[in-house]
Amino acid sequence: MKNHERKLENFPTILIIFGATGDLMERKLLPSILHMWETGVLPKMFRVIGFAKENLTQKEYRAWLRKNAPKKGKRVEDFLQNFSYQPGFFENIENYAELGKKLGYIDGKFRICTNKLFYLAVPPNYYETIFQNLAKSGLTKPCSPKEGWTRVLVEKPFGQDLEKAQKLDLLLGKLFKEIQIFRIDHYLAKETVLNLLVFRFANSVFENLWNKDFIEKITIKILEKSGLEKRGLFYDSLGALRDVGQNHLLQMLAFITMDAPLTLDPEEIRKRKLEILKRLPKMTQNEIKKNTVRGQYQGYKEIEGVKPNSQSETYFKVKTFLDNPRWKGVPIILESGKKLNKYLSEIEITFRQTTPCPFCKTGEKERHKNTLLFQIQPKEGISFCFFSKIPGHKMETEEKDLHFFYQESYRKERMLPDYEHLLTDAFLGDQTLFPSTKEIMASWKFVDPILKGWQKGISPLKIYKQNSSGPK
Ligand code: BG6
Repeated sequence: MKNHERKLENFPTILIIFGATGDLMERKLLPSILHMWETGVLPKMFRVIGFAKENLTQKEYRAWLRKNAPKKGKRVEDFLQNFSYQPGFFENIENYAELGKKLGYIDGKFRICTNKLFYLAVPPNYYETIFQNLAKSGLTKPCSPKEGWTRVLVEKPFGQDLEKAQKLDLLLGKLFKEIQIFRIDHYLAKETVLNLLVFRFANSVFENLWNKDFIEKITIKILEKSGLEKRGLFYDSLGALRDVGQNHLLQMLAFITMDAPLTLDPEEIRKRKLEILKRLPKMTQNEIKKNTVRGQYQGYKEIEGVKPNSQSETYFKVKTFLDNPRWKGVPIILESGKKLNKYLSEIEITFRQTTPCPFCKTGEKERHKNTLLFQIQPKEGISFCFFSKIPGHKMETEEKDLHFFYQESYRKERMLPDYEHLLTDAFLGDQTLFPSTKEIMASWKFVDPILKGWQKGISPLKIYKQNSSGPK
């Protein structure tokens, strides 16, 4: 993991982005690539080719990038010189041939066979077509075994259910080797999520308490105030559980509950996560009814691209358990929603009350539980909540905390954007931050029965007010 000695500068690379005028490019990729360029971490020989269906000239595409870049000025103009554009339809093989010519032209100019990183920033229903056409057009063939690697980066969700994910995986397996495939989950690349590993496995204090005997409950949340902006069509085909549950929440769950890896090798870390994901039990209909809530915010159906009778959830809460000796019986609560009254991503660990509990007064059973909070967004940090004596004659207690906040310890620039981590690692060929195919299948095995149960109407869709805490 994270081989910092290997620098990108000596990896001549072309990044080809499918869906280069989309939401992801605008919000995440463009700012990250710009930041990498400004800080001088990109390869010396580097180009980006945008591929999308809009019929733009190179000049018009650069104008689009200029409009959406988070900064303006001469430096940004220099940066834009690295971009070119290939208009085309994902279904049209001829457009891939044209893309091939552009790649050949750049290789010729650099007088080298560059590495090619194909990034699928498109809705999942296009994956199959793009994979097929990439393979058919021969674009993903490296120049030789030693020179000019090719890799594909795929956005989440990988597939829309277990069956589709397996089919897609089979296809990918025929066209590419596993070391060429990078399946994205950008939550794994957040500084605060990576820090979960360091906090747990570089400190001895908590690890001995990290089990059912000491921990009463684990809660993992991604709550958002924002709605869907321009993503109605895409989001409506998924719903919240596929959008963030099957991936971000389950990956965080794996990091927070997995056993200690013996090394930091990508395979070792992925293996530990997989052990956890395989222990998520398949919910029965009765459990789906009892342990899940799903909601949709008022006004969702009026968003462009959303079906007028849409049953897609924009909120969910799921209670589950891990079926292994370390965590047996400990409830794990996963919650996420849009248009809520809070914006936060966090993991809360609630420890059991001390027994005996001399400071617990009768009727105050819920008091005196320590909590450990990993705040992933927006105020990144870690806090541990404990009890302390209030000064005076009485032995009265109150809650206090020990905390660390990134913004107090580091300058803002030290926080690497998540997509910068991901692109750097994909350039370097480090797969630690990219879930393995087995992890993805195990996640679908857990999520699929819930989605199917919801489709049948078990646990009805509840409408909630915007700017609220979700369904009652
Ligand atoms: C994305 C989802 O994967 O994650 C979005 O598609 C969600 O719907 C986003 O808003 C949350 O990520 P972040 O980094 O903004 O917390």
